[in-house]
Amino acid sequence: MTSDPAIRLGVAGLGRAFVLTLPSFKADPRVELVACAAPREASREAFLNEFGGSAYASVEELCADPSVEAVYIATPHQMHREHAEAALQAGKHVLVDKPLCVSMIDALAIAETTEKTGRHVIVGPSHSFDLPVLKALELIESGAYGQVRMLHALNYTDFLYRPRRPEELVTDEGGGVVFSQGIHQIDIVRLLGGGMASSLRASAGAWDPQRPTECAYAAHLTFENGAFASLTYSGFAHFDSNEYCGWTGELGHPVDPTGYGGARRALMAVEDHEAEARLKSDRTFGASAALPGGSENEHFGPLIVSCDKADLRLTPQGVWVYGHLEKEFIQVPVGPVPRRGVIDALWAAVRRGCPAIQDARWGAASLEVCHAILTSAREGREVELEHQVPVRRTTQ
Ligand SMILES: NC(=O)c1ccc[n+]([C@@H]2O[C@H](COP(=O)([O-])OP(=O)(O)OC[C@H]3O[C@@H](n4cnc5c(N)ncnc54)[C@H](O)[C@@H]3O)[C@@H](O)[C@H]2O)c1
Repeated sequence: MTSDPAIRLGVAGLGRAFVLTLPSFKADPRVELVACAAPREASREAFLNEFGGSAYASVEELCADPSVEAVYIATPHQMHREHAEAALQAGKHVLVDKPLCVSMIDALAIAETTEKTGRHVIVGPSHSFDLPVLKALELIESGAYGQVRMLHALNYTDFLYRPRRPEELVTDEGGGVVFSQGIHQIDIVRLLGGGMASSLRASAGAWDPQRPTECAYAAHLTFENGAFASLTYSGFAHFDSNEYCGWTGELGHPVDPTGYGGARRALMAVEDHEAEARLKSDRTFGASAALPGGSENEHFGPLIVSCDKADLRLTPQGVWVYGHLEKEFIQVPVGPVPRRGVIDALWAAVRRGCPAIQDARWGAASLEVCHAILTSAREGREVELEHQVPVRRTTQ
């Protein structure tokens, strides 16, 4: 254990993302929640009741608080640039939830501000911080299995039918599955494929006129090193690929297969978009019921990485290694901090000065792939990628 003091974290936005990451903050002594910014008074009060510290109505006030060292930005993604730049310019380090932002102009601007201010930006949580993904990266980097040749990632969820704010159903405002969900898959595949994607061809579907944004895509991604990847995602709430993961859900929690159709059924009981947004805010901090307890690692659907000498298959429990003649299972135990990979990266950046792999340039590169999926699908052509960065390791 370290004798360094906990990172004094301020939180911007006390919605669903904060609820999902909070168990990790609470379980990890390396983080102390000292302040928040939230427009809703009820959320601010709930924060003060639970953590003390200070609660502000605006992100600017939060950033002016000298007790805050780093800001976790968990506001809607179209606000990320404004909030990230406010924090950086106030001298704070930034943990910004995925995606980095919506437009490439904003992403590159955040990267420039990061470099000018000399602060650290980490884009996360994202499932690229899941411990089995980090174990697979370690196995690949060991060189024991030769080069990565092919990656296959798929995920079938009910994403589009969970309660949404209206803009979450508008692609240009960052809505749909590509920005919110594709970004996880892209982050993982880029991490294990070496980072330097070169081009992409994709199709995407918006199949429900009531929810007129992308619900699904299939993409073929190539890398400069010759590796290639197939990425498939459906958030259409029919097949649930947790079935392929032993009925372990995204948060590492057990999924009840008898709950089939639950997301669509709950939404059918809602009369209009306002009622739906209210339903979403019922899942916010201070209002939501406890999260299902996760006993396995978080995951983002089945994933197979084919290398020269073995296929690596990631599961919520660890990594299967299928060699030429033998196979073995490498267990990856879950500790008390479900999103430990993210806090490890935050700690390394803030306390040790080691930039995360998933920094602002990395986040911009993954966002570029999201845009490429949409452009390729719209224009029916291959899209070249220009803002890619490699997996950059720094030592602690
Ligand atoms: N990593 C994850 O597990 C995960 C899960 C869900 C969402 N997300 C990401 O988190 C971000 C937020 O999504 P969400 O689903 O939590 O949305 P949400 O609507 O549940 O929460 C957003 C919160 O931001 C607050 N907010 C709005 N404007 C604000 C402002 N100016 N200052 C401070 N707070 C403000 C809202 O009141 C709300 O509580 C998105 O970028 C999304 O992609 C990440």
